[in-house]
Amino acid sequence: MTASAPRSILPPLTAEEQGHSLRLAARIRAALASAGGWLSFERFMELALYAPGLGYYSAGSAKLGAGGDFVTAPEVSDLFSRCIARQCAAVLLRTGGEILELGAGTGRMAAALLTELAAQRVLPERYAILEVSADLAARQRERLALLPRALGERVVWLDELPAQPLHGVLLANEVADALPCRRFRYDADGISELGVVLEAGSGEASTAAAPIRFRERAVAADASLVQDLDEILAGLPEALPPGYTSEVCARIGPWINALSDCLARGLLLLCDYGLPRRHYYHPQRVSGTLRCHYRQLAHDDPYVNLGVQDITAWVDFTRVADAALAAGLEVSGFATQAAFLLGLGVEGLVNEAGAGIEHTRLAGEARRLIMPEEMGEAFKMIALTRDLDIPLAGFALQDLRRLL
Ligand SMILES: C[S@@+](CC[C@H](N)C(=O)[O-])C[C@H]1O[C@@H](n2cnc3c(N)ncnc32)[C@H](O)[C@@H]1O
Repeated sequence: MTASAPRSILPPLTAEEQGHSLRLAARIRAALASAGGWLSFERFMELALYAPGLGYYSAGSAKLGAGGDFVTAPEVSDLFSRCIARQCAAVLLRTGGEILELGAGTGRMAAALLTELAAQRVLPERYAILEVSADLAARQRERLALLPRALGERVVWLDELPAQPLHGVLLANEVADALPCRRFRYDADGISELGVVLEAGSGEASTAAAPIRFRERAVAADASLVQDLDEILAGLPEALPPGYTSEVCARIGPWINALSDCLARGLLLLCDYGLPRRHYYHPQRVSGTLRCHYRQLAHDDPYVNLGVQDITAWVDFTRVADAALAAGLEVSGFATQAAFLLGLGVEGLVNEAGAGIEHTRLAGEARRLIMPEEMGEAFKMIALTRDLDIPLAGFALQDLRRLL
Protein backbone atom coordinates (compact mmCIF):
# COMPACT_ATOMS: atom_id res chain seq x y z
CA MET A 1 0.00 0.00 0.00
CA THR A 2 1.33 3.40 -0.83
CA ALA A 3 0.54 6.92 0.25
CA SER A 4 -1.23 9.25 -2.16
CA ALA A 5 1.06 11.85 -3.68
CA PRO A 6 0.49 14.92 -5.80
CA ARG A 7 2.46 14.80 -9.02
CA SER A 8 4.73 17.67 -7.95
CA ILE A 9 6.35 15.61 -5.21
CA LEU A 10 7.05 12.55 -7.34
CA PRO A 11 10.79 11.90 -7.35
CA PRO A 12 12.55 12.70 -10.65
CA LEU A 13 13.35 9.85 -13.05
CA THR A 14 16.90 8.59 -13.29
CA ALA A 15 18.64 9.21 -16.64
CA GLU A 16 18.05 5.56 -17.57
CA GLU A 17 14.35 5.74 -16.68
CA GLN A 18 14.02 8.96 -18.63
CA GLY A 19 15.54 7.35 -21.76
CA HIS A 20 13.19 4.39 -21.37
CA SER A 21 10.19 6.65 -20.95
CA LEU A 22 11.09 8.66 -24.05
CA ARG A 23 11.38 5.48 -26.13
CA LEU A 24 7.98 4.27 -24.97
CA ALA A 25 6.49 7.72 -25.69
CA ALA A 26 7.82 7.45 -29.26
CA ARG A 27 6.22 3.98 -29.56
CA ILE A 28 2.87 5.32 -28.36
CA ARG A 29 3.11 8.29 -30.71
CA ALA A 30 3.62 5.86 -33.62
CA ALA A 31 0.53 3.92 -32.51
CA LEU A 32 -1.41 7.18 -32.32
CA ALA A 33 -0.34 8.12 -35.84
CA SER A 34 -1.45 4.76 -37.26
CA ALA A 35 -4.76 5.02 -35.40
CA GLY A 36 -5.54 8.44 -36.89
CA GLY A 37 -4.54 10.61 -33.90
CA TRP A 38 -6.63 9.16 -31.05
CA LEU A 39 -6.09 6.04 -28.94
CA SER A 40 -8.54 4.71 -26.39
CA PHE A 41 -7.27 4.81 -22.83
CA GLU A 42 -7.45 1.00 -22.86
CA ARG A 43 -4.98 0.79 -25.76
CA PHE A 44 -2.76 3.44 -24.16
CA MET A 45 -2.68 1.45 -20.90
CA GLU A 46 -1.93 -1.74 -22.82
CA LEU A 47 1.08 -0.10 -24.48
CA ALA A 48 2.23 1.58 -21.27
CA LEU A 49 2.21 -1.76 -19.41
CA TYR A 50 2.85 -4.38 -22.07
CA ALA A 51 4.46 -2.90 -25.25
CA PRO A 52 7.15 -5.49 -26.07
CA GLY A 53 10.49 -4.50 -24.52
CA LEU A 54 9.15 -1.13 -23.33
CA GLY A 55 5.96 -1.54 -21.25
CA TYR A 56 6.16 -1.46 -17.47
CA TYR A 57 5.63 -5.23 -17.19
CA SER A 58 7.61 -6.09 -20.34
CA ALA A 59 10.81 -4.27 -19.41
CA GLY A 60 13.15 -4.51 -16.45
CA SER A 61 12.48 -2.30 -13.44
CA ALA A 62 12.30 -3.41 -9.81
CA LYS A 63 8.47 -3.04 -9.63
CA LEU A 64 7.67 -4.94 -6.43
CA GLY A 65 9.12 -4.78 -2.95
CA ALA A 66 10.68 -2.12 -0.78
CA GLY A 67 13.07 -0.96 -3.54
CA GLY A 68 10.32 -0.95 -6.17
CA ASP A 69 7.10 0.94 -6.83
CA PHE A 70 4.59 -0.88 -4.65
CA VAL A 71 4.29 -3.61 -2.05
CA THR A 72 1.75 -6.45 -2.33
CA ALA A 73 0.34 -8.66 0.44
CA PRO A 74 2.74 -11.59 -0.23
CA GLU A 75 5.61 -9.07 0.05
CA VAL A 76 4.27 -7.67 3.32
CA SER A 77 4.27 -11.06 5.00
CA ASP A 78 4.42 -14.80 4.37
CA LEU A 79 1.40 -15.01 6.70
CA PHE A 80 -0.72 -14.09 3.66
CA SER A 81 0.66 -16.97 1.57
CA ARG A 82 0.51 -19.42 4.47
CA CYS A 83 -3.22 -18.72 4.84
CA ILE A 84 -3.69 -19.16 1.09
CA ALA A 85 -1.76 -22.44 1.41
CA ARG A 86 -4.26 -23.65 4.00
CA GLN A 87 -7.12 -22.91 1.60
CA CYS A 88 -5.26 -24.64 -1.23
CA ALA A 89 -4.54 -27.68 0.98
CA ALA A 90 -8.26 -28.18 1.67
CA VAL A 91 -8.98 -28.07 -2.06
CA LEU A 92 -6.05 -30.28 -3.11
CA LEU A 93 -7.07 -32.91 -0.55
CA ARG A 94 -10.38 -33.18 -2.39
CA THR A 95 -9.31 -32.68 -6.00
CA GLY A 96 -5.63 -33.66 -6.14
CA GLY A 97 -3.78 -32.07 -9.01
CA GLU A 98 -1.85 -28.85 -9.22
CA ILE A 99 -1.63 -25.12 -8.57
CA LEU A 100 -1.37 -22.55 -11.36
CA GLU A 101 -0.37 -19.05 -10.27
CA LEU A 102 -0.88 -16.14 -12.64
CA GLY A 103 1.47 -13.17 -12.34
CA ALA A 104 3.72 -14.50 -9.59
CA GLY A 105 5.64 -11.25 -8.95
CA THR A 106 8.94 -11.96 -7.18
CA GLY A 107 7.99 -15.61 -6.53
CA ARG A 108 7.70 -15.03 -2.81
CA MET A 109 4.13 -16.30 -2.60
CA ALA A 110 5.03 -19.46 -4.57
CA ALA A 111 7.95 -20.15 -2.23
CA ALA A 112 5.94 -19.62 0.96
CA LEU A 113 2.99 -21.60 -0.36
CA LEU A 114 5.06 -24.62 -1.34
CA THR A 115 6.89 -24.54 1.99
CA GLU A 116 3.62 -24.47 3.93
CA LEU A 117 2.03 -27.17 1.78
CA ALA A 118 5.09 -29.37 2.34
CA ALA A 119 4.70 -28.85 6.10
CA GLN A 120 1.07 -29.94 5.78
CA ARG A 121 2.06 -32.86 3.50
CA VAL A 122 -0.34 -31.75 0.76
CA LEU A 123 2.01 -30.87 -2.08
CA PRO A 124 0.55 -30.22 -5.53
CA GLU A 125 1.73 -32.46 -8.37
CA ARG A 126 3.23 -29.33 -9.89
CA TYR A 127 3.25 -25.59 -9.29
CA ALA A 128 2.86 -23.83 -12.64
CA ILE A 129 3.46 -20.11 -13.12
CA LEU A 130 2.18 -18.02 -16.02
CA GLU A 131 4.07 -14.75 -16.02
CA VAL A 132 4.00 -12.08 -18.75
CA SER A 133 7.06 -10.23 -17.47
CA ALA A 134 10.38 -11.83 -18.53
CA ASP A 135 12.15 -9.80 -15.89
CA LEU A 136 9.85 -10.95 -13.07
CA ALA A 137 10.01 -14.55 -14.35
CA ALA A 138 13.81 -14.34 -13.98
CA ARG A 139 13.40 -13.09 -10.39
CA GLN A 140 10.98 -15.94 -9.70
CA ARG A 141 13.48 -18.51 -11.03
CA GLU A 142 16.22 -17.07 -8.83
CA ARG A 143 14.06 -17.13 -5.74
CA LEU A 144 12.52 -20.56 -6.27
CA ALA A 145 15.96 -22.07 -7.00
CA LEU A 146 16.61 -21.58 -3.26
CA LEU A 147 13.83 -24.01 -2.30
CA PRO A 148 14.69 -27.58 -1.27
CA ARG A 149 15.00 -29.71 -4.41
CA ALA A 150 11.81 -31.70 -3.71
CA LEU A 151 9.83 -28.45 -3.85
CA GLY A 152 11.77 -26.55 -6.51
CA GLU A 153 11.47 -29.36 -9.03
CA ARG A 154 7.68 -29.08 -8.95
CA VAL A 155 7.77 -25.53 -10.33
CA VAL A 156 7.31 -24.98 -14.06
CA TRP A 157 6.80 -21.82 -16.11
CA LEU A 158 4.17 -21.77 -18.84
CA ASP A 159 4.04 -19.52 -21.92
CA GLU A 160 0.27 -19.72 -22.15
CA LEU A 161 -2.69 -21.13 -20.30
CA PRO A 162 -2.70 -24.95 -20.33
CA ALA A 163 -4.73 -26.56 -23.11
CA GLN A 164 -5.66 -29.44 -20.78
CA PRO A 165 -8.05 -28.32 -17.98
CA LEU A 166 -6.53 -29.00 -14.56
CA HIS A 167 -7.70 -30.25 -11.18
CA GLY A 168 -6.66 -28.08 -8.25
CA VAL A 169 -6.25 -24.34 -7.75
CA LEU A 170 -5.78 -21.28 -9.96
CA LEU A 171 -4.47 -18.24 -8.09
CA ALA A 172 -4.05 -14.60 -9.05
CA ASN A 173 -3.09 -11.92 -6.55
CA GLU A 174 -3.22 -8.37 -7.91
CA VAL A 175 -3.35 -9.39 -11.57
CA ALA A 176 -6.92 -8.40 -12.55
CA ASP A 177 -6.20 -4.77 -11.64
CA ALA A 178 -3.44 -4.71 -14.29
CA LEU A 179 -5.80 -5.63 -17.15
CA PRO A 180 -6.15 -2.58 -19.43
CA CYS A 181 -9.46 -0.81 -18.84
CA ARG A 182 -11.66 1.65 -20.73
CA ARG A 183 -12.37 5.05 -19.20
CA PHE A 184 -15.66 6.87 -19.66
CA ARG A 185 -17.32 10.14 -18.75
CA TYR A 186 -21.02 10.26 -18.05
CA ASP A 187 -22.92 13.43 -18.92
CA ALA A 188 -26.59 14.31 -19.22
CA ASP A 189 -26.26 14.31 -23.04
CA GLY A 190 -24.51 10.95 -23.28
CA ILE A 191 -21.45 8.87 -22.59
CA SER A 192 -18.01 9.60 -23.93
CA GLU A 193 -14.89 7.48 -23.96
CA LEU A 194 -11.64 8.95 -22.72
CA GLY A 195 -8.59 8.49 -24.84
CA VAL A 196 -5.25 10.01 -25.65
CA VAL A 197 -4.02 12.55 -28.20
CA LEU A 198 -0.67 14.28 -28.69
CA GLU A 199 -0.31 17.50 -26.76
CA ALA A 200 -0.21 20.44 -29.21
CA GLY A 201 3.40 21.51 -29.81
CA SER A 202 4.72 18.38 -28.10
CA GLY A 203 8.34 17.46 -29.04
CA GLU A 204 8.90 15.72 -32.36
CA ALA A 205 12.18 14.05 -31.47
CA SER A 206 11.22 12.64 -28.05
CA THR A 207 14.20 14.08 -26.21
CA ALA A 208 14.48 15.11 -22.57
CA ALA A 209 14.48 18.77 -23.67
CA ALA A 210 11.42 18.34 -25.89
CA PRO A 211 9.55 15.26 -24.72
CA ILE A 212 6.47 13.88 -26.39
CA ARG A 213 3.47 14.69 -24.22
CA PHE A 214 0.00 13.21 -24.29
CA ARG A 215 -3.28 14.56 -23.07
CA GLU A 216 -6.74 13.22 -22.59
CA ARG A 217 -9.52 13.70 -25.14
CA ALA A 218 -13.07 12.39 -24.94
CA VAL A 219 -14.90 11.11 -28.02
CA ALA A 220 -18.47 9.80 -28.34
CA ALA A 221 -18.62 6.28 -26.89
CA ASP A 222 -18.99 3.41 -29.37
CA ALA A 223 -21.91 0.95 -29.25
CA SER A 224 -20.09 -1.62 -27.09
CA LEU A 225 -19.22 0.93 -24.38
CA VAL A 226 -22.74 2.41 -24.44
CA GLN A 227 -24.22 -1.06 -24.02
CA ASP A 228 -21.82 -1.86 -21.18
CA LEU A 229 -22.66 1.39 -19.41
CA ASP A 230 -26.39 0.95 -19.96
CA GLU A 231 -26.19 -2.38 -18.14
CA ILE A 232 -24.12 -0.91 -15.31
CA LEU A 233 -26.35 2.16 -14.87
CA ALA A 234 -29.53 0.07 -14.91
CA GLY A 235 -28.30 -1.86 -11.86
CA LEU A 236 -27.22 1.14 -9.75
CA PRO A 237 -29.43 2.38 -6.91
CA GLU A 238 -28.65 6.06 -7.64
CA ALA A 239 -28.08 8.16 -10.77
CA LEU A 240 -24.53 9.33 -11.47
CA PRO A 241 -23.82 13.08 -11.46
CA PRO A 242 -22.84 14.82 -14.75
CA GLY A 243 -19.12 14.70 -15.44
CA TYR A 244 -18.76 11.40 -13.54
CA THR A 245 -15.61 9.63 -14.73
CA SER A 246 -14.71 6.02 -14.11
CA GLU A 247 -13.42 2.78 -15.59
CA VAL A 248 -14.86 -0.33 -17.19
CA CYS A 249 -12.66 -3.38 -17.63
CA ALA A 250 -14.13 -5.16 -20.64
CA ARG A 251 -11.26 -7.66 -20.56
CA ILE A 252 -12.40 -9.23 -17.31
CA GLY A 253 -15.04 -11.34 -19.08
CA PRO A 254 -12.73 -12.97 -21.65
CA TRP A 255 -10.02 -13.39 -18.98
CA ILE A 256 -12.34 -15.21 -16.54
CA ASN A 257 -13.67 -17.27 -19.43
CA ALA A 258 -10.17 -18.35 -20.41
CA LEU A 259 -9.33 -19.22 -16.79
CA SER A 260 -12.57 -21.14 -16.44
CA ASP A 261 -11.63 -23.20 -19.52
CA CYS A 262 -8.46 -24.26 -17.65
CA LEU A 263 -10.28 -25.52 -14.56
CA ALA A 264 -11.77 -29.01 -14.75
CA ARG A 265 -12.37 -29.20 -11.01
CA GLY A 266 -11.36 -27.00 -8.11
CA LEU A 267 -10.94 -23.36 -7.10
CA LEU A 268 -10.09 -20.14 -8.91
CA LEU A 269 -9.07 -17.70 -6.17
CA LEU A 270 -8.67 -14.05 -7.06
CA CYS A 271 -7.47 -11.33 -4.72
CA ASP A 272 -7.41 -7.68 -5.64
CA TYR A 273 -8.42 -4.28 -4.48
CA GLY A 274 -11.94 -3.63 -5.59
CA LEU A 275 -15.61 -3.40 -4.78
CA PRO A 276 -19.01 -4.77 -5.66
CA ARG A 277 -20.51 -2.73 -8.50
CA ARG A 278 -22.89 -0.54 -6.51
CA HIS A 279 -19.97 0.66 -4.37
CA TYR A 280 -17.53 0.85 -7.27
CA TYR A 281 -19.80 3.24 -9.17
CA HIS A 282 -20.85 5.20 -6.11
CA PRO A 283 -22.03 8.72 -7.08
CA GLN A 284 -19.38 10.27 -4.84
CA ARG A 285 -16.49 8.41 -6.51
CA VAL A 286 -16.50 11.03 -9.26
CA SER A 287 -13.01 10.43 -10.67
CA GLY A 288 -12.96 6.64 -10.73
CA THR A 289 -10.34 4.30 -9.33
CA LEU A 290 -7.35 4.62 -11.64
CA ARG A 291 -4.06 4.77 -9.73
CA CYS A 292 -0.41 4.91 -10.72
CA HIS A 293 2.45 3.69 -8.54
CA TYR A 294 6.00 4.97 -8.68
CA ARG A 295 8.57 4.38 -5.96
CA GLN A 296 6.02 3.72 -3.23
CA LEU A 297 3.93 6.79 -4.08
CA ALA A 298 0.44 6.59 -5.54
CA HIS A 299 -0.95 9.29 -7.84
CA ASP A 300 -3.48 9.63 -10.64
CA ASP A 301 -1.55 10.83 -13.71
CA PRO A 302 -1.01 7.94 -16.17
CA TYR A 303 0.63 10.27 -18.73
CA VAL A 304 3.87 10.77 -16.81
CA ASN A 305 6.70 8.31 -16.10
CA LEU A 306 5.68 6.15 -19.06
CA GLY A 307 6.91 2.58 -18.75
CA VAL A 308 8.44 3.11 -15.32
CA GLN A 309 5.26 3.39 -13.26
CA ASP A 310 2.47 0.91 -12.71
CA ILE A 311 -1.07 1.78 -13.80
CA THR A 312 -4.00 -0.01 -12.15
CA ALA A 313 -7.74 0.26 -11.71
CA TRP A 314 -9.85 -1.28 -8.97
CA VAL A 315 -11.75 -4.44 -9.83
CA ASP A 316 -15.55 -4.44 -10.25
CA PHE A 317 -16.19 -7.76 -8.49
CA THR A 318 -19.77 -7.90 -9.76
CA ARG A 319 -18.32 -8.08 -13.28
CA VAL A 320 -16.02 -10.88 -12.13
CA ALA A 321 -18.93 -12.79 -10.59
CA ASP A 322 -21.16 -12.31 -13.68
CA ALA A 323 -18.35 -13.48 -15.96
CA ALA A 324 -17.76 -16.52 -13.74
CA LEU A 325 -21.43 -17.50 -13.79
CA ALA A 326 -21.55 -17.05 -17.58
CA ALA A 327 -18.54 -19.37 -17.83
CA GLY A 328 -20.28 -22.06 -15.78
CA LEU A 329 -18.36 -21.49 -12.54
CA GLU A 330 -19.96 -21.15 -9.13
CA VAL A 331 -19.36 -18.06 -6.99
CA SER A 332 -18.58 -19.79 -3.69
CA GLY A 333 -17.31 -16.91 -1.58
CA PHE A 334 -16.58 -13.19 -1.47
CA ALA A 335 -14.90 -11.60 1.52
CA THR A 336 -12.53 -8.90 2.58
CA GLN A 337 -8.89 -9.89 2.87
CA ALA A 338 -9.18 -9.44 6.65
CA ALA A 339 -12.10 -11.88 6.96
CA PHE A 340 -10.37 -14.36 4.65
CA LEU A 341 -7.14 -14.37 6.66
CA LEU A 342 -8.92 -14.54 10.01
CA GLY A 343 -11.08 -17.40 8.73
CA LEU A 344 -7.92 -19.30 7.87
CA GLY A 345 -6.40 -18.79 11.29
CA VAL A 346 -3.86 -16.03 10.78
CA GLU A 347 -3.99 -15.21 14.50
CA GLY A 348 -2.97 -18.78 15.35
CA LEU A 349 -0.02 -18.52 12.96
CA VAL A 350 1.12 -15.37 14.77
CA ASN A 351 0.69 -16.98 18.19
CA GLU A 352 2.65 -20.08 17.16
CA ALA A 353 5.69 -17.81 17.27
CA GLY A 354 5.37 -17.65 21.09
CA ALA A 355 6.42 -14.47 22.87
CA GLY A 356 9.40 -12.37 21.86
CA ILE A 357 10.72 -10.53 18.88
CA GLU A 358 9.42 -12.95 16.20
CA HIS A 359 5.91 -12.67 17.64
CA THR A 360 6.14 -8.87 17.62
CA ARG A 361 7.29 -8.88 13.99
CA LEU A 362 4.52 -11.24 12.85
CA ALA A 363 1.87 -9.34 14.82
CA GLY A 364 2.93 -6.14 13.06
CA GLU A 365 2.73 -7.82 9.65
CA ALA A 366 -0.68 -9.32 10.46
CA ARG A 367 -1.96 -5.87 11.42
CA ARG A 368 -0.86 -4.51 8.06
CA LEU A 369 -2.68 -7.29 6.25
CA ILE A 370 -5.85 -7.06 8.32
CA MET A 371 -6.50 -3.55 9.62
CA PRO A 372 -9.24 -1.78 7.66
CA GLU A 373 -7.16 1.35 7.11
CA GLU A 374 -4.29 -0.78 5.77
CA MET A 375 -5.00 -3.73 3.38
CA GLY A 376 -7.80 -5.50 5.25
CA GLU A 377 -10.88 -3.87 3.71
CA ALA A 378 -9.81 -2.52 0.33
CA PHE A 379 -8.62 -5.94 -0.83
CA LYS A 380 -11.19 -8.62 -1.50
CA MET A 381 -10.98 -12.35 -2.16
CA ILE A 382 -13.41 -14.10 -4.47
CA ALA A 383 -13.73 -17.88 -4.72
CA LEU A 384 -14.92 -19.25 -8.06
CA THR A 385 -15.31 -23.00 -8.11
CA ARG A 386 -16.18 -25.92 -10.33
CA ASP A 387 -17.43 -29.23 -8.98
CA LEU A 388 -16.09 -28.50 -5.50
CA ASP A 389 -18.30 -29.52 -2.61
CA ILE A 390 -16.21 -28.55 0.41
CA PRO A 391 -16.57 -25.66 2.87
CA LEU A 392 -14.02 -22.91 2.23
CA ALA A 393 -12.64 -21.70 5.58
CA GLY A 394 -11.47 -18.40 4.10
CA PHE A 395 -15.09 -17.46 3.52
CA ALA A 396 -16.62 -18.87 6.70
CA LEU A 397 -16.53 -15.63 8.71
CA GLN A 398 -18.02 -13.32 6.10
CA ASP A 399 -20.29 -13.74 3.12
CA LEU A 400 -20.50 -10.61 1.01
CA ARG A 401 -21.95 -12.39 -2.03
CA ARG A 402 -25.28 -10.61 -1.55
CA LEU A 403 -23.53 -7.37 -2.53
CA LEU A 404 -22.37 -8.70 -5.89
C1 LIG B 1 0.90 -6.23 -9.17
S1 LIG B 1 1.91 -7.55 -9.65
C2 LIG B 1 1.44 -8.80 -8.46
C3 LIG B 1 2.52 -9.83 -8.28
C4 LIG B 1 2.23 -10.93 -7.28
N1 LIG B 1 1.04 -11.66 -7.60
C5 LIG B 1 2.13 -10.37 -5.89
O1 LIG B 1 1.03 -10.31 -5.36
O2 LIG B 1 3.17 -9.99 -5.33
C6 LIG B 1 1.13 -8.11 -11.12
C7 LIG B 1 1.74 -9.39 -11.67
O3 LIG B 1 0.94 -9.89 -12.73
C8 LIG B 1 1.74 -10.06 -13.89
N2 LIG B 1 0.79 -9.87 -15.00
C9 LIG B 1 0.29 -8.73 -15.48
N3 LIG B 1 -0.63 -8.99 -16.42
C10 LIG B 1 -0.73 -10.34 -16.52
C11 LIG B 1 -1.51 -11.24 -17.31
N4 LIG B 1 -2.37 -10.79 -18.22
N5 LIG B 1 -1.35 -12.57 -17.11
C12 LIG B 1 -0.47 -13.05 -16.20
N6 LIG B 1 0.30 -12.24 -15.43
C13 LIG B 1 0.17 -10.92 -15.60
C14 LIG B 1 2.85 -9.07 -13.72
O4 LIG B 1 3.98 -9.31 -14.49
C15 LIG B 1 3.13 -9.24 -12.22
O5 LIG B 1 3.87 -10.41 -11.96
